[in-house]
Amino acid sequence: MNFLKASLISMVLVTSHIASADEFEKWMGDYFEVSISKLLDNINPKGSIPGTVIASPSKQKPNYYYHWVRDASLVMRTVSRLHSIEKDPIKKEIYLNYLKDYVVGTKIHHSYPSKGGLGEVKFYVDGRPFQGPWGRPQNDGPGLRSMVMIQFANYLLDNGEEDYVRRELYNVGLPATTVIKKDLEYVSHRWTQKDFDLWEEVVGHHFFTRMAQRRALLQGAKLARRLGDDAAAFWYDDQAFHLGRELNYHWDESWGIFLSTINWGGHRRGKGGMDSATILGVVYTHVDGEKQFDLSDDRFLSTLERTRKRFARVYKINELQPGVGTAIGRYPEDTYDGYKTDALGNPWFLTTAGFANYCYRLASNMKNKKSLRLTEFNIRFVKHVMLSNGHGFNMDEDAMLKGKSLSNFKEALIQSGDSYLRRVRLHIDENNSMSEQINRRTGFMQGARDLTWSYSSFIDAYLSRKEAVK
Ligand code: NOJ
Ligand code: NOJ
Repeated sequence: MNFLKASLISMVLVTSHIASADEFEKWMGDYFEVSISKLLDNINPKGSIPGTVIASPSKQKPNYYYHWVRDASLVMRTVSRLHSIEKDPIKKEIYLNYLKDYVVGTKIHHSYPSKGGLGEVKFYVDGRPFQGPWGRPQNDGPGLRSMVMIQFANYLLDNGEEDYVRRELYNVGLPATTVIKKDLEYVSHRWTQKDFDLWEEVVGHHFFTRMAQRRALLQGAKLARRLGDDAAAFWYDDQAFHLGRELNYHWDESWGIFLSTINWGGHRRGKGGMDSATILGVVYTHVDGEKQFDLSDDRFLSTLERTRKRFARVYKINELQPGVGTAIGRYPEDTYDGYKTDALGNPWFLTTAGFANYCYRLASNMKNKKSLRLTEFNIRFVKHVMLSNGHGFNMDEDAMLKGKSLSNFKEALIQSGDSYLRRVRLHIDENNSMSEQINRRTGFMQGARDLTWSYSSFIDAYLSRKEAVK
């Protein structure tokens, strides 16, 4: 049976692999539209408070029918991106209303006392916080949420809506009464505390969480300054600076990766520290042109390549489909199969599309660069990107990638991104849906169906691709 499934998958592979570049591009454009509509299906479901984003429509096995703060923030980040590029006024207005709803919903979430405080993890669709036992707090939530809100506040300020911003989003001075200010106060005072990671399993200090907190504080400081809250701006910047320093302690030079968690404080023993969350943490928060934590930082490229290579070995489906990008999971030792936590973990759509996103973003980031210095850390990544996409690769004596080799590299990055999306395509079902996971042996989908974050991740990757090829 399994063999049969496996050979079916490899037949699909053959067809999708031979799909021409044009056909593949057409598919990406079509699937982008499909993803938008499936993502929007999971916002404001019947009977919910405005601004509710369910993680998935699945109400049992597993029950993901909640507004999960992290998922919702990342999804709304995608909506905000769609809003900012939309030309059609009607569609633009629709996206704008989703963002306004999100403010309304967040205000309601903030108004309830909850076990996790502002680090509460998930809410019922009627707005009440989940009451059962859970890994809380998860402090990436307030960071990611305020990142989206700050972006929105800046848009509104540019469009003459200062009253609304000051009333609903950011009040100057204390106590904090508005959504952004509350989250920023929380983040700036609590970031030293240990909490649960984004996968809700490990207690400690997490690379992903800290990247989100740092970016929220940096953006928050700018907004505070824009609104005349100078003392707060100074404080947020200062905390962000300290976070930046702490983040460097995650770097494990001998292994060549950023460890996902340090100062481990309990739960989920047996996790080594290699985790795709590190790559997601960079791609969700980076800003081109900043010196620290640039996308082309050789430590990130080392982390990405080592993580990819490990997953290539861990999952059977990666052996079966040469030519299609590596299916990426959460972390190699994962035991959550989408239903139970004592099984074998699998590749996920959102992480695989997240790696695609990284490649496209890096291609854009490299546009302004005249050369790339090859180091002991980035060399494996560069080699893999070049060779797996049919580009020769010679290093000149000063170990620089420039001229023709550099333009080949930029092109190969886009091809690498595409290979991850070809991988995604291979495992989507006949209804064009994406669940959470892809069975590591059979290639069939499993776990929560129509996971909103999967669509968000695909849309993000596609939008980044558009920017990269422009
Ligand atoms: C267990 C998983 O390991 C964890 O990541 C997930 O968030 C929870 N189950 C809830 O589905
Ligand atoms: C499990 C994941 O580990 C977690 O990151 C996510 O928030 C929930 N599922 C809901 O999608």
